[in-house]
Amino acid sequence: MPPSLSVVILAAGKGTRMYSDLPKVLHPLAGRALLDHVLTTARGLKPKRLCVVYGYGGDTVPNSIAGEDITWVPQAEQLGTGHALQQALPHLNATGQTLVLYGDVPLTREDTLVRLLDLAGSDKMALLTAEFPDPAGYGRIVRSADGRVERIVEQKDATDAERQIREINTGILVAPSAKLVSWLGQLKNDNAQGEYYLTDTIAMAVSEGVPVKTSHPHAAWEVLGVNSKLQLAELERIYQRNYAEQLANRGVMILDPARFDVRGELDCGRDVVIDVNCVFEGKVALANNVSIGAHCVLKNVTVAEGTKIQPFSHIEDAQIGGNCRIGPFSRIRPGTTLATDSHIGNFVEIKNSQIGAGSKVNHLSYVGDATVGSKVNIGAGTITCNYDGANKYRTVIEDEVFIGSATQLVAPVTVGKGATIGAGSTITRDAPAGELTISRVKQFTITGWTRPAKKK
Ligand code: UD1
Ligand code: CA
Repeated sequence: MPPSLSVVILAAGKGTRMYSDLPKVLHPLAGRALLDHVLTTARGLKPKRLCVVYGYGGDTVPNSIAGEDITWVPQAEQLGTGHALQQALPHLNATGQTLVLYGDVPLTREDTLVRLLDLAGSDKMALLTAEFPDPAGYGRIVRSADGRVERIVEQKDATDAERQIREINTGILVAPSAKLVSWLGQLKNDNAQGEYYLTDTIAMAVSEGVPVKTSHPHAAWEVLGVNSKLQLAELERIYQRNYAEQLANRGVMILDPARFDVRGELDCGRDVVIDVNCVFEGKVALANNVSIGAHCVLKNVTVAEGTKIQPFSHIEDAQIGGNCRIGPFSRIRPGTTLATDSHIGNFVEIKNSQIGAGSKVNHLSYVGDATVGSKVNIGAGTITCNYDGANKYRTVIEDEVFIGSATQLVAPVTVGKGATIGAGSTITRDAPAGELTISRVKQFTITGWTRPAKKK
């Protein structure tokens, strides 16, 4: 790595073909802005300076991206890639190398860039190029008869013969910072697009005897840019496919790598099974022998060993113990912890609650702001009434309690250890331990009652 590396990320473009009010580089890929992906890769190279040239969208771009280490350089008018880089030059180290990246090319691998930097050394230029079967739209690498790079010609300025060249300019390059100052100062915009082309510096390097080296990325997707929402979706699939492959290579059974999405980090133990169409957001950790059914969404969740999450469950900001059974159709909301062996069934919503070991909430219930002990059984249709319209209150259900179906627990309220609550009760005062508490209108029958008949 050169001793004083500067990285400049060009990100001023409008992205006309995105048809969006959001600046292109802020569109998310795997839940993070495109520019954020490029910044992460750049930071891996430990540059002395990290510059982002922004323009379209104004301060939205710097305001949306975190980083004390970033020097934000405005480019008021997008007059071309050469002009963009020129804006950044005053902020770079005068010596050393400058690496140019694009804010809309998110999947470049760090080792590809390391190879490019090694190739450039301290005094050469290095271009990342690729052989594309369809090179349309890209700048072409023009070489001499003996194979040396001579210049880059843009598609719109190329002759028919030059358009036959299949080696394209990815745009990613390394050049000596001091040379860039002089070369960019000499750029002219007398070309088909009336722009200051960064690519015109290659011919300048050649004429000054600065060697121009080239290398290829490992895979073509590393240099693909985003110009439309369709391309964004295609890169998303490539990212997800790569992520799935990495997990699968470490033993995770992903039933269909093409229907799998991680928007953050997913950490998996041994013998984890993930069925189709699951989405993992934020930080998710699945311990050994966890299985996730189809169509689940997990966000910032840890799941301990042996737990089965059945289809269509939605879990957010929660800690799930071992050997639990959740779903199908469970919703577990922020602030929830489930101890081992607990069961949460269909159409049950749990919010900001602790559920003890071996406890069950199997059907159609709402448990919010509750502390539930171990071996508790909460019958179907139970509701903690935790909100009086202004404040929230806690419900405490001690160990081994049995709550009959269709009970309302009006918080703040405590149900003592081993208590039983009769079905259909509305519990507004604490229920003593070990006793049956019931609040229900006594059942009675009106004998001989007849249904009203329709008037003739
Ligand atoms: C550029 C290259 C071309 C290469 C292609 C790869 C030039 C002249 N051409 O073409 O050889 O094959 O990329 O995709 O460099 N940008 C700014 N300010 C500007 C203009 C551009 O910040 O004034 C940024 C854009 O936001 C984008 C990047 O630079 O991230 C490339 O710009 P773009 O207009 O896409 O370049 P191309 O014409 O495609
Ligand atoms: Ca482009």
